[in-house]
Amino acid sequence: MANLMPKKVLCVCLGNICRSPTAEAVLRHFFMQNHLDIFVDSAGTAAYHIGEAPDHRSQKHAGQRGYDLSALRARQLKVQDFTEFDLILAMDHQNLKEIEKLHQHAKQQFSADACKAKIVMMTAQDPLRHNQAIADPYYGDAADFELVIDHCEAASQAWIDTFSKLTKS
Ligand code: 4NP
Repeated sequence: MANLMPKKVLCVCLGNICRSPTAEAVLRHFFMQNHLDIFVDSAGTAAYHIGEAPDHRSQKHAGQRGYDLSALRARQLKVQDFTEFDLILAMDHQNLKEIEKLHQHAKQQFSADACKAKIVMMTAQDPLRHNQAIADPYYGDAADFELVIDHCEAASQAWIDTFSKLTKS
């Protein structure tokens, strides 16, 4: 559980071309709408798509809801991310395992104290989908890409609710 307001949040999936760039754009939009000055980025645990723009299907469906993914480029999660980011949000449970594995390497390379990032599921605060995966749409159809956006919006609203309570306490 994030009990402090993060300054930097990193959304992580496998390829960084479908779910995490969508989560990045949605979360950034929700933070801006709610006047929360929080930096958002995204990365993938795998190297397959480094340097690529988000999948054209993610761009299309997100674009229809007003989220512009066109400027985003895929990158791989790296050990420095654990010192730089306060909160790392995994899209599914395999991502979470891979993030935690790299976290161990980061702690060896730097120190446990320096690797301050909290690692939780994107849906950790969502009362309807608490800690459930945001399903990989890569081999799916249009409805799967729509669901990713639905779930990112619900999860983002839940983070807003969580952080809003912190500012009031
Ligand atoms: P993402 O989706 O992890 O949401 O970006 C995927 C993108 C690419 C692949 C799998 C999932 N792939 O196998 O290349």
